Amino acid sequence: PVLVVDFGAQYAQLIARRVREARVYSEIVPHSITAAEVAAKNPVGIVLSGGPASVYAEGAPSLDPAIYELGVPMLGICYGFQDMARALGGTVAHTGTSEYGATDATLLDTSAVLLAGQSSEQNVWMSHGDSVTEAPAGFTVLARTDATPVAAFADDARQFYGVQWHPEVKHSDFGQRVLENFLHRAAGIAEDWNPGHVIADQVAAIRAQVGTGKVICGLSGGVDSAVAAALVHEAVGDQLVCVFVDHGLLRQDERRQVEEDYVAATGVRLVTVDAEEQFLSALAGVTDPEQKRKIIGREFIRTFEQAQAALIAEAQEADGDPIKYLVQGTLYPDVVESGGGSGTATIKSHHNVGGLPDDLTFELVEPLRTLFKDEVRAIGRELGLPETIVGRQPFPGPGLGIRIVGEVTAERLDLLRAADAIAREELTAAGLDGEIWQCPVVLLADVRSVGVQGDGRTYGHPIVLRPVSSEDAMTADWTRLPYDVLARISNRITNQVPGVNRVVLDVTSKPPGTIEWE
Ligand code: XMP
Repeated sequence: PVLVVDFGAQYAQLIARRVREARVYSEIVPHSITAAEVAAKNPVGIVLSGGPASVYAEGAPSLDPAIYELGVPMLGICYGFQDMARALGGTVAHTGTSEYGATDATLLDTSAVLLAGQSSEQNVWMSHGDSVTEAPAGFTVLARTDATPVAAFADDARQFYGVQWHPEVKHSDFGQRVLENFLHRAAGIAEDWNPGHVIADQVAAIRAQVGTGKVICGLSGGVDSAVAAALVHEAVGDQLVCVFVDHGLLRQDERRQVEEDYVAATGVRLVTVDAEEQFLSALAGVTDPEQKRKIIGREFIRTFEQAQAALIAEAQEADGDPIKYLVQGTLYPDVVESGGGSGTATIKSHHNVGGLPDDLTFELVEPLRTLFKDEVRAIGRELGLPETIVGRQPFPGPGLGIRIVGEVTAERLDLLRAADAIAREELTAAGLDGEIWQCPVVLLADVRSVGVQGDGRTYGHPIVLRPVSSEDAMTADWTRLPYDVLARISNRITNQVPGVNRVVLDVTSKPPGTIEWE
């Protein structure tokens, strides 16, 4: 494998993902790993991640120096670059000039193996306080910026490379190129890895975790839980029972797609629970978004526990084994945004992470925890899931419950479902599904505006269209949809959905807006 050494920032997962994009297998290891442990893994390359510390700070993490003696090609990034510089005899100093965000870099040698195929002036993403002021002996300086005399270096003889900027971040012009040059050209690693390998790895990991234990999985109707369940089914077959909770917060036709299409493709055992009344009564009178998320998360688990009790009673005659494991389709961005990455703030409690109740009685199985959405889709396709599920827009676990600004009621849900179905239908008909990441349709139930329809005055609610383009939902831009498509959606919604007399377009990027309104 390529080892990605984690120096304690959330970048390590992103680096691992970029290495996978270069079709190379990688594993994340802690910075405390010893040279012997590294050698035992027989790595073909090592990438040192960034990190929040200063290399000279008290207790700053540092790589076991014997790792530099193993003869493995290495790439240091940001903090990892500085740690490499310091370990090999260069100088890292607090120059008093920090660089954060987009920075102009000048490449000094575009024929260098690390920088091949790049333009000599480029925009890179920086985030550092200290700088390398002197490269270690044997290294050539490859780039500089106004504030950083040594922004990249190479020692081709020992196959050591480093960049001060973050090549794993999309805002670095040639970021992926830097990583691929390191992996394929400098280290000579073959492109022989594909999503099928994730499946094999995860199947093995799931088998190791659950053994012969029974597993339950809640299908939300979204891509994530569908792929997570399919993986677990691949691993342990009918030890898995899927519970599909119809909480009444689903989109139109979703129940049928899960009950018919998904089951046909995977062969999973599926139990559907009708829990609409339970969810709606728990949500009655609630308007606060965080409270809604907590309630929906809690009811989800309760519903499972009830379903589990029923399933156990049923299975009692067979063998009496309780269901011990719960599968969740948690993705890496969910982990980060719920404050699970190191030192990151809680933006929202994603209901499958932060919203779990304390009295949870299951052990979690989360096979997608290190993956990003597009990787999950690739795995789903590899597993043969229907396109209606794999290609579907991301849909939040709390469903339409967090797309009604205001109290959630059955009537409002029907209205929103109708508007959402129209928007989705028109976007698909216009061939725009590939262009947008998702298009939440939001009902502003607490807002009313005056309209005129026929000859009469109306006093209805607005529907918000929130089309966004994104790579991984951590950042997003609003999608510039063609006006004629917007016009058709608006026209049909105001004509066909009673109670809605206005359609508005959300033109906010993320940040500052999140994708969902709640
Ligand atoms: P935000 O609104 O945080 O959304 O910008 C980022 C992505 O996550 C989805 N989302 C959720 N997914 N449980 C989920 O499984 C949740 O509680 C949740 N909240 C938001 C959202 O649809 C978008 O794709």
